[in-house]
Amino acid sequence: MVVTPRTLIRWKRENRSIVALTAWDYASAKVLDEAGVDVLLVGDSLAQVVLGYETTLPLTLDEMLHHAKAVSRGVKRALVVVDLPFLTYQESPQQALRSAGRVLKETGASAVKLEGGYAAVVETVAFLVRAGIPVMGHVGLTPQSVHQLGYRKQGTTKEDESRLSSEVLALQEAGAFSIVLEHLDTTLATTISQKLSIPTIGIGAGNACDGQILVTHDLLGWSDRQPPFAKVYANLQDTITEAVRRYSDDVRGRRNCQ
Ligand code: KIV
Repeated sequence: MVVTPRTLIRWKRENRSIVALTAWDYASAKVLDEAGVDVLLVGDSLAQVVLGYETTLPLTLDEMLHHAKAVSRGVKRALVVVDLPFLTYQESPQQALRSAGRVLKETGASAVKLEGGYAAVVETVAFLVRAGIPVMGHVGLTPQSVHQLGYRKQGTTKEDESRLSSEVLALQEAGAFSIVLEHLDTTLATTISQKLSIPTIGIGAGNACDGQILVTHDLLGWSDRQPPFAKVYANLQDTITEAVRRYSDDVRGRRNCQ
């Protein structure tokens, strides 16, 4: 069975939790897909985790397309969602349509994700959905607004709480098929998840969300700095260092060839 945006909405009704992770290349996408991950996000954290930028802001649409194509080639079952990079959708709904259109036409992915829940983003989501493009929303900590928000937890004040509650409803109304809640107060994330008929995918937003996402490199212990909410399930950094040291010793001792 291939996972589609409609599958996720059905799973919310059936109370089946959604498993999501990031992927940026063919080899890892294939392994994650075969391991049964439901949603693979070609997230723009690519900029920091794999390309070494300080923030997600420098990432271009062409860089994203390059990685999204590789991911799609490795996937048979999971829903592939691609982040629209900073300033490839904020200018106007038409700019967003051109960017999202390239994602769907050129990469084989089925959906895009964009950040924010303010009125202009909601209008853009509605415009893309009308054009037949499935859209995942993303509120709470939105890394493309790092210079305004920083990386701190969101939804901790009364004003924030009521703004975010209206934004998620507006995104749902605009036709988003699911919404990422990032580093959000867990009580608020729980209330939002109960109120919406589309699934919430949490990252640092508590266990009551309809699914969870993590950056794969964080989960595997293969990133410079993991966020405080990331549960680490392996230590690939040490495993790789150890393997490379053994290889180096073998080469230097002329023992490498089998
Ligand atoms: O780019 C990203 O990694 C994200 C997270 C929600 C996983 O958007």
